[in-house]
Amino acid sequence: MNQLPLFLPCAAGVEGFLADEVHHITGLVGHDLLVGRGGVMAMASWRQAMELNLRSRLAQRVLVQLSQTPYRNERDLYEAASAVAWEVWFTTKNTFKVDITAQHSPLTSLNFAALKVKDAVADRFRQKTGVRPDVNTQWPDVRLYVHLTTDIATLYIDTSGEPLFKRGWRTDKGDAPLKETLAAAMIAASGWNADAATALPFYDPCCGSGTLVIEAAQIACNMAAGSQRHFGFEKLLPYQAHVWQALKAQAQAAERVPNAPIFGSDVSHRMVDFAERNAERAGVAQVVQLRGGDALQRMPPTATPGMMLLNPPYGERIEAAGVAGVQALAQTGRETPQTEDGGEFFLQLASHWKKNFSGWQAWVLTPDLKLPGRMRLKESRRVPMWNGPIECRLFKFDLVAGRLKPRQPGASEPSA
Ligand SMILES: C[S@@+](CC[C@H](N)C(=O)[O-])C[C@H]1O[C@@H](n2cnc3c(N)ncnc32)[C@H](O)[C@@H]1O
Repeated sequence: MNQLPLFLPCAAGVEGFLADEVHHITGLVGHDLLVGRGGVMAMASWRQAMELNLRSRLAQRVLVQLSQTPYRNERDLYEAASAVAWEVWFTTKNTFKVDITAQHSPLTSLNFAALKVKDAVADRFRQKTGVRPDVNTQWPDVRLYVHLTTDIATLYIDTSGEPLFKRGWRTDKGDAPLKETLAAAMIAASGWNADAATALPFYDPCCGSGTLVIEAAQIACNMAAGSQRHFGFEKLLPYQAHVWQALKAQAQAAERVPNAPIFGSDVSHRMVDFAERNAERAGVAQVVQLRGGDALQRMPPTATPGMMLLNPPYGERIEAAGVAGVQALAQTGRETPQTEDGGEFFLQLASHWKKNFSGWQAWVLTPDLKLPGRMRLKESRRVPMWNGPIECRLFKFDLVAGRLKPRQPGASEPSA
């Protein structure tokens, strides 16, 4: 199979990190690897498409672009979809589904547009073989994507199946779990270099179901993100089981012992249980050290300073334990979680870190753009990220011993 134009969608703000990752996995450079809005375009082989599915931690999917044409109406979409050689990719024994997204499309009904594309695909099969493939909207064998802009229609066939954030190991979830792809993006943004012989110890003191810790552990072990799941390409015609098995075996042979210790803790013992079970399923139970405990009390897990990475509780109940026993936000009506002695949780956290975590970096993901002001810490980096539809910042704090800055009255988000 010739080189394929791939599109790998990702969360806004992650495009640059994804391009670096695609380069790392495939070696692609220059015009073969372009950063777009909401994703990365790559000219790659079928084997590389499978490898990207297996190893990418940041992409949401790996799509093959099969057509890009101007359009004005549904009739044009029908023509465009009729012209694609779908029979190269799947057969009438496969079920399929058409999904559609649009930006500023003049069409009034996207559902109707998707229906026209579905008809074009089915009609083409009937003309070629006398049979129409069935549609299955819930568990299709094959997913087709249409993306419409003002005047351009792009058709893709998906090679991933279930979205790539579903790694296959997280069956136990907390109340506000991070998507695995966002956890991986936070790690990429932090620049944590797990390959270095002197990789920094990694610690998430509010680890919940363990997403950050487990992603970090798999990265440190050079474990492929998708080694425990199936992919859409396994149902497509170009799929060759022996090539895929060889790729998986090669990835497994490249796994290694991590260079840095990886720790997680959470005030909720139920969450720690979840994290332990998830780590077990993810194959990193021996690599991570998980504990119960209050982030306001836990001391550094290593003598050597390392890196903390966390998405602390925000706008949700912090479960009561130790000095961080709290009142639910609903009870206090306050914007910031309160500890039982009336101090603000984040202020106490900052004070604990300054006192005990000197020399550490702390990377905190939050939708609260004023968090540094609340913590009376000055951030040294600020990376925009999206947690689904919620705009967030990943703040970096370089922790040094000392007193907290006095509160700035009416302080707003500092400028870049
Ligand atoms: C937003 S969730 C983190 C989700 C996690 N990243 C995941 O993917 O599952 C925040 C976590 O902080 C924990 N937490 C709340 N207060 C805490 C405290 N004082 N010390 C440690 N953990 C705390 C909660 O139990 C919850 O699991």
